[in-house]
Amino acid sequence: MRNIHRRTLLKGAVATVIMPAFTRASTSEILLRAKPASVQLVDADHPQTQIWGYNGGVPGPQIRAVQGDQIALRLSNDLVQPTSVHWHGLRVKNSMDGVPGITQKAVLTGEEFLYQLDLRDAGTFWYHSHNRSAEQVARGLYGVMVIVEPDAPDVDRDIVVVLDDWRLDEVAQISEPFGNLHDHSHAGRLGNFIHAMFDSLPAQMATNERLRLRFVNTATDRIMPISLRGVSGWVVARDGMPLKKLEPLGILTLGPAERADVIIDVTAEHDGEVLLIFHDRNQGYVLNDFRVSGAAATVRRPKPTPLSPNPIETLVSVAGARTIPLRMQGGAMGDLQEGLYKGKMLSMRDLVDQGQIWTLNGEAGLPVEPLFETPLHATIVFEMRNDTAFAHAMHMHGTHFQEVLPNDTFGPHKDTVLIQPGEARDFAFVADNPGKWLIHCHMLSHQSAGMKTWFRVG
Ligand code: C2O
Ligand code: CU
Repeated sequence: MRNIHRRTLLKGAVATVIMPAFTRASTSEILLRAKPASVQLVDADHPQTQIWGYNGGVPGPQIRAVQGDQIALRLSNDLVQPTSVHWHGLRVKNSMDGVPGITQKAVLTGEEFLYQLDLRDAGTFWYHSHNRSAEQVARGLYGVMVIVEPDAPDVDRDIVVVLDDWRLDEVAQISEPFGNLHDHSHAGRLGNFIHAMFDSLPAQMATNERLRLRFVNTATDRIMPISLRGVSGWVVARDGMPLKKLEPLGILTLGPAERADVIIDVTAEHDGEVLLIFHDRNQGYVLNDFRVSGAAATVRRPKPTPLSPNPIETLVSVAGARTIPLRMQGGAMGDLQEGLYKGKMLSMRDLVDQGQIWTLNGEAGLPVEPLFETPLHATIVFEMRNDTAFAHAMHMHGTHFQEVLPNDTFGPHKDTVLIQPGEARDFAFVADNPGKWLIHCHMLSHQSAGMKTWFRVG
């Protein structure tokens, strides 16, 4: 597969799939049929790739709705495995969260499940399988949800850009098996074919054109540092939540499941180009290039203003909050000696025999008892400590948290945060969504190898 790697990364060949036409939510149901399909993932010199997708494509249908809408989505399972759908980052009712064993039964082959969602927040979200997700998401079971603000910013184009990382063989088929021990104990299942999929592909761009790009990292394990050339811009939202203060756009690093909304102005002149670059160590690889032709306006527009905030509580203090330690251990080059698994203390070697390599607070896999229980409206602080040799993309279900910074200041609302080896960072939230919620590493290989737990609100 060195082949495809070189073609797409080294030579910057553009492999771009246009997503299936989007589905505008209405009062009627949206059908999501999980099934095998074949798609032209790599270029025409390669055969089509057998994937698992929603409605026969990858990404699945783009769900577009307006903030405040209620939508219904019917999952129907035509796969050989049970499945479920999780609405990543949406603050939904617990029974709609899509986690087998916690909020619902897995949907068996030939069966269906109806999800009903209240769209409280505007922004860029995504949905994906939450059963055997290290395999099912890697095979293509995901899609994007765009929840439009009633007062969306004025841009010339609004484009979704999905970043994914596939492990393909010489004939462009998804490499098996899944669950390789080396992957699971290191940085996860990394692929050899990284590409960006645009929902509408600008044939060209024009000077002073303003675009909103909604980046979504759907890779199971790959951290994606990207940048754009020929533009100047700002990050205006992260994980679907508007930033109070716009961040100038430099290298944008998205861990698995993270999103960023970016507003860019094309600054390249006529005959110049705009590049989307993936950064790997000290190298940059062109994922896409767009020719610039003509000008959309004679002058640049003024800097955009922040998007209207979502109706989520913003922290002002963590005085008196309950703190919950969340210590990450295990993996290759870690010093984990033993861990609790299914109620038994096992040596590292016995854990590995069970496919368990990572622990949170000394326990691998989903504990029977919640990590903690909290009454509604309490403020909780997770003290995250990464005592492993790898980064982890910690994701909480049910609501967003904010990083606790010095002097009673707080970072932006996030649902997934990248915690580097050795880091100790605190994240706080108000427990306002009742139910049983997961917190896990969104490097899905790490999740399946133990890095997950849950808590109960209310
Ligand atoms: Cu996007 Cu529990 O996951
Ligand atoms: Cu991890």
